[in-house]
Amino acid sequence: MLQLITETADFLKSKTGLSPETGIILGTGLGGLVHEIAIEHSIEYKDIPNFPVSTVEGHSGRLIFGKLGGKNVVAMQGRFHFYEGYDMKQVTFPVRVMKYLGIKQLFVSNASGGVNPAFEVGDLMIITDHINLFPTNPLIGKNEAALGPRFPDMSDAYNLELIAKAEAIAQKNNINVQKGVYVGLSGPTFETPAEYKYIRIIGGDAVGMSTVPEVIVARHMGIPVFAMSIITDIGVEGRIEKVTHEEVQKVAQIAEKKMTLIMKELVASL
Ligand code: HPA
Repeated sequence: MLQLITETADFLKSKTGLSPETGIILGTGLGGLVHEIAIEHSIEYKDIPNFPVSTVEGHSGRLIFGKLGGKNVVAMQGRFHFYEGYDMKQVTFPVRVMKYLGIKQLFVSNASGGVNPAFEVGDLMIITDHINLFPTNPLIGKNEAALGPRFPDMSDAYNLELIAKAEAIAQKNNINVQKGVYVGLSGPTFETPAEYKYIRIIGGDAVGMSTVPEVIVARHMGIPVFAMSIITDIGVEGRIEKVTHEEVQKVAQIAEKKMTLIMKELVASL
């Protein structure tokens, strides 16, 4: 795998001549951050050697290189989900490549369902920890020692300093943020009421279909991670309504401005 990663990283370095300090996965709710980036290079995934091939016609996604808050960043516009049929190595390959482009931290966003009764639709949640309920783990298989250890520590998966900084930025800007545990599972079904209840009982505050694989791989390689979630629907007994992808997108778009501001200022503060 190392050879594929360096091949891809070398290709991107030769195309852009840039060495980004921060990697960003623009999940749901962070699409607008793209407009804040002074774009220097934009490369479609389909033109990047060894990148997974998109399953959705015409929506290949792209890797964006540019400046955000005066800092060099590389941002993934569009991520690969396990439920689309990619295997875990494909889902997490771009994170491996970003490491070899030189990133020093990874920022991630997503949309999720809130199972903490104190949460409301439209809330932002800083992820402080996760529970991996995906049926597999991206590190299963032969370990390449050059990439990271066989048994990576996960005691500080989400960087405490970045969390503290983000909280200070939120407070300064009068943005209310929740903190909590993100439970990642495969999807693509949303949860049944019994599943939401189970997720709460095991210690979750929110549930979604991404992020956990990318964070595991980032931590395998020693990259500090900061992640935020937009609560787009509520999975609490008595408050459960039908969830649709459209509703998730709509709520995410409304909360997006606040998340964008926090991420931008956090990058600028590094
Ligand atoms: N469950 C899983 N994934 C999600 C949800 C949810 O309720 N909302 C947004 N993504």
